[in-house]
Amino acid sequence: MKNVRHLIEPKDLSNSEIMELVNMGIQMEENPQDYVNLCKGKILGSLFFEPSTRTKFSFDSAMLRLGGNLMGFTDVNTTSAKKGESLGDTIKIMGAYTDIIVMRHPKEGAPKLASEYSTIPIINGGDGGHQHPTQTLTDLITIKKYKNTVSNHTIALCGDLKFGRTVHSLIKTLARFNTKKFYLISPKELSLPKSIVNEIKLNYDIEIEETSELEAVMDKIDILYMTRIQKERFFNEEDYIKLKNSYILTNEKIEPAKKDMIIMHPLPRVNEISKEVDDDKRAIYFEQARLGVYVRMALIAKLLGAI
Ligand code: NCD
Repeated sequence: MKNVRHLIEPKDLSNSEIMELVNMGIQMEENPQDYVNLCKGKILGSLFFEPSTRTKFSFDSAMLRLGGNLMGFTDVNTTSAKKGESLGDTIKIMGAYTDIIVMRHPKEGAPKLASEYSTIPIINGGDGGHQHPTQTLTDLITIKKYKNTVSNHTIALCGDLKFGRTVHSLIKTLARFNTKKFYLISPKELSLPKSIVNEIKLNYDIEIEETSELEAVMDKIDILYMTRIQKERFFNEEDYIKLKNSYILTNEKIEPAKKDMIIMHPLPRVNEISKEVDDDKRAIYFEQARLGVYVRMALIAKLLGAI
């Protein structure tokens, strides 16, 4: 197989490559007209084996803003996977029809497997409860833009830390950029997998505090990263119902927070942030989703060798 770059998990990119993408994304956002032909004639294959709004359409938007085209599916029942075609065969064929692939799959490891069959770059748009590296790039461009640097922050990650793939990718990446302290806030049943906690403790000198109390840390943090309880990853409805209202952010609860704290969320939100919070200037989750387009433009251009 020829030497192609894929993005399956954040560690596929070096720290300097991550910052190069973040900075390029910021440039692309500021001067979009300079990049309208950068990927002209190229085709993005968009293979969504699992539902998506932001990841799917921000990649589409990114490719179109670079002057490229796209094709793909969001309903696997319309494809030959339904007839029993293997993922490897689907990928080989899509490699002949397109130049770069973004895929989302409910099975952990599916994008990695796909990359083993692929002659073109594969981007993981989320695999089960495992990883979501382009959400991390989206999170980092947002932190860089709103806090000037991705380093030296005290950050609270709150909600479903067990199944939330955005959290898994983000915490591993932020650890590489000298985060000051992580507060891991979740019900006990949904705590961050021990393997990730241990990996960070072993490799970095970063304070980690695990708690189930969000309000107690509110005045101590620079960034609050809220997440949805991942209903689709639960084995039974009863457990989900028990945990679904664990955290609901309101204006009253953010009252003690720093004036320049930022509130992030990968979205979709269910009920973990009340709508009233949207009007607070610290709530930047919709802006975060918008910035995701530009960092994905930078990523597509990089993997296609256009920058
Ligand atoms: C996230 C995901 O798919 O993991 N969504 C997204 O890509 N922005 C978060 C979620 O579904 O809760």
